[in-house]
Amino acid sequence: MARTELTKLAKELRRRVELSSESDWLAAGSRPAATTAPIPPAKNKEEGSRTERLAALSKKIHACRLCSLGASRLNAVPGVGSAEARVMFIGEGPGFDEDHKGEPFIGRSGQLLDKIMESIGLSRQTVYIANTVKCHPMKDPSNPEARGNDRPPTPEEMAACRPFLDEQINIIEPKIIVTLGASALKAMLGDGPPITKVRGQWREYRPAGGAAVKLLPTFHPAALLRDPNLKKDVWTDMKNLKKELESE
Ligand code: URA
Repeated sequence: MARTELTKLAKELRRRVELSSESDWLAAGSRPAATTAPIPPAKNKEEGSRTERLAALSKKIHACRLCSLGASRLNAVPGVGSAEARVMFIGEGPGFDEDHKGEPFIGRSGQLLDKIMESIGLSRQTVYIANTVKCHPMKDPSNPEARGNDRPPTPEEMAACRPFLDEQINIIEPKIIVTLGASALKAMLGDGPPITKVRGQWREYRPAGGAAVKLLPTFHPAALLRDPNLKKDVWTDMKNLKKELESE
């Protein structure tokens, strides 16, 4: 068998294993039957340059002092994932764990986000995960070693960080942005109806200097940890996300 055919076969096998993995984030019984249609691979036209541009941007973020969060953070948290991602998940901002490691969504919410993505065949390696702000907003900025010291970013902090987020979107050119929670929704679409009203409804976001991207608002994983009843709504959103990706 030709080498390219073998590679194709291995890719397909890996995707099928991903899609068949048991998702335990939804309670048994409320979990609808899994769909098995494979998600087509991401376009891969400019890998080197996208990766390089993200790396250069990451350097700028690490050096940033545009708002006061830059002074108290332990680590800037630019984002993680594929420069070729077709889906970009956007959360609120780094917390204690993320600040310590420099990677988004690695605490309890992040572990749940991993399971949510896995249930539709996505992973931290195939999507891109970022936040509205790249540094940890703290109630007491003098104490980054304290747990439970998190707060939502202010509108000014989100506005200061916006050019970084827009540049990430413009570099990656995702097909879909998924906002996680009320802060991310507000950061992207401004004041409007609450997340409980717009969750699951397709919207659009146009980054400065870039093209409009479809946007799907859903609940933040932390909200699901507080109220497991919200899981079924997020599962509905994830099935819609998968359908949209397959329709490409
Ligand atoms: N919550 C977020 O919104 N972002 C993270 O990176 C971690 C937790």
